[in-house]
Amino acid sequence: MLKLGERTINFPFVLAPMAGITNAPFRRLMREMGAGVVVSELISAAGIEYGGRKTHELCKYFDQERPVGLQIFGETPEHLEKAALYLERLGADFVDINMGCPVPKIVSKGGGAAMLRDPSKLYATLSRLKNAIRIPLTIKIRTGWDACSLNAVEVVHAAAEAGVSWVAIHGRTRAQGYEGSADWDFIAEVKNKSPIPIIGNGDILTAEGAIHRLRTSGCDGVMIGRGALRNPFIFVEIQNLLGKNNTTEHTYWSLIERHLELLRECYVDFYLGVQLRKFLTWYSAGMEGASALRKTLYSFENSDQGTAEVLRVAREFFDRPGLRKQSSYLNEAFLQGGHG
Ligand SMILES: Cc1cc2nc3c(=O)[nH]c(=O)nc-3n(C[C@H](O)[C@H](O)[C@H](O)COP(=O)(O)O)c2cc1C
Repeated sequence: MLKLGERTINFPFVLAPMAGITNAPFRRLMREMGAGVVVSELISAAGIEYGGRKTHELCKYFDQERPVGLQIFGETPEHLEKAALYLERLGADFVDINMGCPVPKIVSKGGGAAMLRDPSKLYATLSRLKNAIRIPLTIKIRTGWDACSLNAVEVVHAAAEAGVSWVAIHGRTRAQGYEGSADWDFIAEVKNKSPIPIIGNGDILTAEGAIHRLRTSGCDGVMIGRGALRNPFIFVEIQNLLGKNNTTEHTYWSLIERHLELLRECYVDFYLGVQLRKFLTWYSAGMEGASALRKTLYSFENSDQGTAEVLRVAREFFDRPGLRKQSSYLNEAFLQGGHG
């Protein structure tokens, strides 16, 4: 069972944090589309302390997203503690620490996946954070630093002792980046030995796949990242398969109109097109004419006029009967790089 502090998460299918993607509008859209929990992209703990405008923008969320976690990364326990206290004051439901980011700029300073290398230091940092805040603390990790140091079991025990509520595990090592496949056998082994809830993550592309991974790994929840970009209905489809959904059918165009409304609450007009067109290219994966659509969308300039053009073309493409996806797109490599 997936518990977050005192709260039980009844639908343990979580939207994964993704930099530049899981901003407030997309998180709210995915909550409306059935995700049980959502998590922000990684936010610099030092950036929060030094008061950067962009960093503070990343901390904003809609009340309707709850339960929403805000994720931070940082090198020093001092920065992480101050940032966690700030997020608690902002009203976040939980604070998540990024311990899976493989990006050299971050690990070279001791942040992200570098934190996995020393479980006793990790315990000290997590205990300090846990003592500082009252809201739940969660972490997101990799299976280990590299194939010779698959230490997720040790890390999970250190986290449990420190009072962490759950551990989300992306089933690859830091050294792997996004190569190969997520190791769900290893995730299941970690879950088997864990005293606290484990959320499995990696390569879930379909609703059937999500349910299969939850059942066969024994995990308390699963986390879906890239799968929700190419299939924004994935959480509703999981609900349907589990007999939990009573809502009417959604269409791509109704989803896009809703996404636009939510973007409008956060961004000025010229930026809507910039935001929307990346999602439109992902949503169109596997549809006839997708590559021509992508070219057209990226031919427009970043301006109010450009946004109007993006919308016109999007409507022509997505608001038509018989829109179908070929499942062959599931075999294509997709977004093989990220911060966790
Ligand atoms: C573009 C992109 C950005 C990402 N940003 C983050 C991030 O900010 N924090 C994090 O913990 N993981 C991040 N990740 C990793 C995902 O949360 C997830 O662990 C990974 O993509 C594997 O899951 P998936 O196969 O369901 O996408 C990112 C992944 C991608 C593709």
